[in-house]
Amino acid sequence: LRVALFFGGVSSEHDVSCVSASAWLRALGQKPCADKYEVFPVGITKDGRWLACCPTPEAMADGSWEQGDCTPCVLSPDRKDHGIWLLKDGRAELVHIDICAPVMHGKNGEDGTIQGLFELARIPYVGCGVLGSAVCMDKAVANALMDAAGVPHCKWVAASRADLELNGPVVLDGIEAKLGYPIFVKPANAGSSVGISKVADRAALERGVEIALREDDKVVFEEFVDAQEVECAAIGNPDDPSTVSTTRPGEILAGAEFYTYDDKYKNGVSQTVIPAHLSEEKLDEVRAEARKAYLALGCSGLSRCDFFVERSTGRVLCNELNTLPGFTSISMYPKLMEHEGYSYPALVDKLLTLAVH
Ligand code: DAL
Ligand code: MG
Repeated sequence: LRVALFFGGVSSEHDVSCVSASAWLRALGQKPCADKYEVFPVGITKDGRWLACCPTPEAMADGSWEQGDCTPCVLSPDRKDHGIWLLKDGRAELVHIDICAPVMHGKNGEDGTIQGLFELARIPYVGCGVLGSAVCMDKAVANALMDAAGVPHCKWVAASRADLELNGPVVLDGIEAKLGYPIFVKPANAGSSVGISKVADRAALERGVEIALREDDKVVFEEFVDAQEVECAAIGNPDDPSTVSTTRPGEILAGAEFYTYDDKYKNGVSQTVIPAHLSEEKLDEVRAEARKAYLALGCSGLSRCDFFVERSTGRVLCNELNTLPGFTSISMYPKLMEHEGYSYPALVDKLLTLAVH
C-alpha cells in the first residue's frame, strides 16, 4: 500500500510536525511496516506549497528537506484520480495513493481542513474525521461539548475578538469574577501551548489577550487548578465502541510554570512518567473519562486526552483532546502505547490499519 506521509504545514507547529513525521518515516522503513507500505512523503512548506520529496529522516526533521530534490504536487479531489498529481516540467503525472497519513499539528493539519480534502478524494486517512478534528481543535467548542457530555472540566469562558475589542473591560470584569486569578489565557485554536499565558493580574490579563489574539480570533480563559498533568492515549474506531481502548495514563513533570512550547520541544527539562503517580482507582477514572471524551467529541483513529488531577481534591478534569498528538520519539502518545506493548513501528502499522478498516 502506498502511504502519502504529509508533514510540515501552515501552522505554528510546522517544526514539530517535521520531527513527528521524521519518526514516522523511520518507522515505515522498519518491520512490520517495511514489508507492507511504500512511503510517499509530501512536505508542506510554511507558506503552503506542496512538495513531493524523498528526504532522509534527519533532513525531514531539521528542515533541510526543502533544499533537496522536490517536485510540486497536488492531491486531486477527483475520486477517479485517487491520488496525487506530480507537476514536472509542465506535465502532470498521477501517483496512486492508498492511505493518507497527515502527521501535522495545529491549524491546516489537525483541524479538519486537510481531512476534508481526503474525504473529497475518498482516500482513507489516519486519525479523526472532519468534525472530530475541527471540534477538538477549537477549545471553546470542545469545552462546550465536554460540558454537554458530562466530561468534567475546569471553569472556562470564551470571548471573540469582537467581544474583546468592543466590550473589553466588561468582558474582562466578568472573567475575573467567574474565574479568579491566576487565569490561563489561550487562543481557541492553536497547539503546543503557542500563544498561551498564565496571568495573575489585570495588566497581565490584557497582555495575555493580545498575545492570544495573534494566533486566533477567539480566546478561551480557564481557571488555574493546582494539579498533576496527566495524559491518556486512546485508539480505535467508534463504529464499534468496544474496540476503542485507552492506555494507562502517564504524567508530565513540567520544568516551567506550565508545560510550555520550549519545555515541550527545546530545553528538555520536563519529564514523563508512566504510569502517572496516582492510585489505581484514579488511573481508572482518568481512563474512563478519556474514553467518554473520545466518543463524545467524535474522535476516531487516535487522540491523546490531556487531564488535570487537582492536588487538593483529586478532581479529574479533562483539559483537551489532541487528535494528532506529538509523535516525536520521546512524545507521550507513542510512549503510552509502548507501555501497552506497541513498538513505534507497530503503532504506525496499527494506525494505518485502522485507517483502511
Ligand atoms: N500539539 C502537540 C503536537 C501535542 O499535543 O502533542
Ligand atoms: Mg494541543
